[in-house]
Amino acid sequence: MSSSLSSYPLVAPTIHVAISVVLFLSVGFYDVVYGLSANRVIDSPLLTEKIGTNRTIKVDINGNGEFKSIQAAIDSVPEGNSEWIIIHIRKGVYREKVHVPEKKPYIFLRGNGKGKTSLVWSQSSESNLESATLKVEASHFIAFGISIKNDAPVGVAFTSQNQSVAAFVGADKVAFYHCAFYSTHNTLFDHKGRHYYDNCYIQGSIDFIFGQGQSVFFSCEIFVIADTRVKISGSITAQNRQNENDDSGFVFLKGKVYGIGGVYLGRAKGAYSRVVFAKTYLSRTIAPQGWTKWSYDGSTEHLFHAEYDCHGPGAATEERAPWARQLKEEEAAKFLSIDFVDGNDWLPVYKIELD
Ligand SMILES: *[C@@H]1O[C@H](CO)[C@@H](O)[C@H](O)[C@H]1NC(C)=O
Ligand SMILES: *[C@@H]1O[C@H](CO)[C@@H](O)[C@H](O)[C@H]1NC(C)=O
Repeated sequence: MSSSLSSYPLVAPTIHVAISVVLFLSVGFYDVVYGLSANRVIDSPLLTEKIGTNRTIKVDINGNGEFKSIQAAIDSVPEGNSEWIIIHIRKGVYREKVHVPEKKPYIFLRGNGKGKTSLVWSQSSESNLESATLKVEASHFIAFGISIKNDAPVGVAFTSQNQSVAAFVGADKVAFYHCAFYSTHNTLFDHKGRHYYDNCYIQGSIDFIFGQGQSVFFSCEIFVIADTRVKISGSITAQNRQNENDDSGFVFLKGKVYGIGGVYLGRAKGAYSRVVFAKTYLSRTIAPQGWTKWSYDGSTEHLFHAEYDCHGPGAATEERAPWARQLKEEEAAKFLSIDFVDGNDWLPVYKIELD
């Protein structure tokens, strides 16, 4: 791993040619549509190769990098940046809030792995946006191998009506690979734009994946920690699609949902709320009704709360809410591909395997 952390070494011209040929062949072999063959995993060296830049800034909390703080590294990127830049964050717990501003696209935050590189802040606020530990407002942003946490005490959110967001994702073309998101409440604010979450871990109790994003969650683990002091059961998602022309929606493919306490898969936040769980393991933590329209009293006609080929004890359909849909194969097809977020146009790499 450590060899991939440094910038590209200078190579003598003859060797350089040989390397180019090898890269060319391997690219032609497996990478026609940026998907991957079965045995290739998305790891840090692969992402680094796809990003293909020689610009790397090192952040090390112990002082062995160019910066000790992630924000300081982002501040050093010029506004209007138009080429990929890697900000490598060495292992450690970084206690700070991080903001990636709109005018700084093409940043790749590369951690050493979830559990090794952690970004933690503790804030409970009336504003979701304000409380967020990580705030992404630039397009073409990717992150790998980082745990992102809002440490605000459990219960504070419910008693004070405050929010404690771990990450706010408010830009188009954003991807997280092997990242973890922790909070008790409103963990992941997937606000707007097209996003891809690959092998991520997302934890929370109520509405913990919410917003108006258009997102694919592939092979993600959703861990529920219901707060028993709250009388109502929470929901994993609160998707806020507004009308029939709104392309937003959350699609969960091939992951697993488990945890402690009862929870719904989703609640109707907008009248056109759209969420699909497909080929996902659902443990008994999912309430038999599956979906709820708590706090929404409009028509259920346009809600798109759907499941396709899920399994596990929480996937039983007998007691599902009347508007919940069990999709047929042809209805599900449009959600089972990276085309839902047009990933072929902008993702450096993805891997969607459904079998
Ligand atoms: C980095 O790559 C760019 C083009 O890809 C090149 O122009 C530049 O000289 C390289 N810089 C270094 C330090 O290798
Ligand atoms: C709730 O948020 C407000 C600011 O939005 C803050 O002043 C207050 O301290 C927060 N309450 C708790 C319990 O954190």
